[in-house]
Amino acid sequence: MTSNFPALDTLGQTTRTRLEQALDQFLPTDTAATRLSQAMRYAALGGGKRIRPMLVYGATQLAGGDPAQADVPATAVELIHAYSLVHDDLPAMDDDDLRRGQPTCHKAFDEATAILAGDTLHTRAFELLATRGNYRSDTRIAMIRHLCQAAGVDGMAAGQMQDMLAQGQQQTVAALEEMHYLKTGRLITASLQLGYFAAEQDNPALLSDLARFGDAIGLAFQIQDDILDVTVGTEQLGKPSGSDEKLQKSTFPSLLGLEQSRQRAEQLCDQARQSLAGYGERAQPLQQLAQYIISRDH
Ligand code: IPE
Ligand code: IPE
Ligand code: MG
Ligand code: MG
Ligand code: MG
Repeated sequence: MTSNFPALDTLGQTTRTRLEQALDQFLPTDTAATRLSQAMRYAALGGGKRIRPMLVYGATQLAGGDPAQADVPATAVELIHAYSLVHDDLPAMDDDDLRRGQPTCHKAFDEATAILAGDTLHTRAFELLATRGNYRSDTRIAMIRHLCQAAGVDGMAAGQMQDMLAQGQQQTVAALEEMHYLKTGRLITASLQLGYFAAEQDNPALLSDLARFGDAIGLAFQIQDDILDVTVGTEQLGKPSGSDEKLQKSTFPSLLGLEQSRQRAEQLCDQARQSLAGYGERAQPLQQLAQYIISRDH
């Protein structure tokens, strides 16, 4: 990723190697490829920074687990993320044509296929949590419950609804933070929680510290995404820059300006790092990931 963050580089390598293999294995195979499974593979295997899976692997390792225990939840959260991007880009939502440097799923296929690919990426995530890997039943239920709650009507989908309703409206900072927390923060926190559960170690203090860490970096992550939308070009982003302005989205830069947005992201990063300060060296990969999230350039 970047040599300024050596512990994160190691986490990134572990994640990419294991995740690409797991995704390939858990998605419908090439040989059985129907149009729908091709669209699923197109959306999930087409690159991406894989930040949520890194959070899963990082949390499993911090909880004392083995990286192999994180393969299933890391794949599940990335599938939910991939589905959310496919639907987010649809004409009825953000109407974007480019994602991860490639045509969006509905451009490469068509709208109906993209809607269905989103649906099936979503259900495949829960199928994996219910059926794959060697976990106790209570571990599976905890992972499924946390992911459902983060993605559903009290989580990401609710945040996306607020995002759509807020177009063209001036929001308060508190309302904006709530929307960001729901649409982006909940899945980020769930990634850490699933990583923790996958390790099958009983450490409730760590679970709540990870949740505090996740809530802060989740908000910081969306603030940085909104900053990049107005400061970086399309080619570097791999998705259309200026998309938020085009749709009069409610964002931190539009409400507070760039400088205050950057300050808020830094404050949240410090707050996140405080949550894991007691874990010393072992938390370095996640601590560096928090810094990367607010300093990334795409
Ligand atoms: C983009 O997420 C969507 C948001 C929640 C802002 P990422 O920036 O993690 O997208 P990829 O996976 O790297 O493409
Ligand atoms: C997306 O926010 C949040 C999701 C839940 C997908 P954005 O609409 O800002 O994400 P990008 O900029 O298109 O990746
Ligand atoms: Mg959007
Ligand atoms: Mg979008
Ligand atoms: Mg954006």
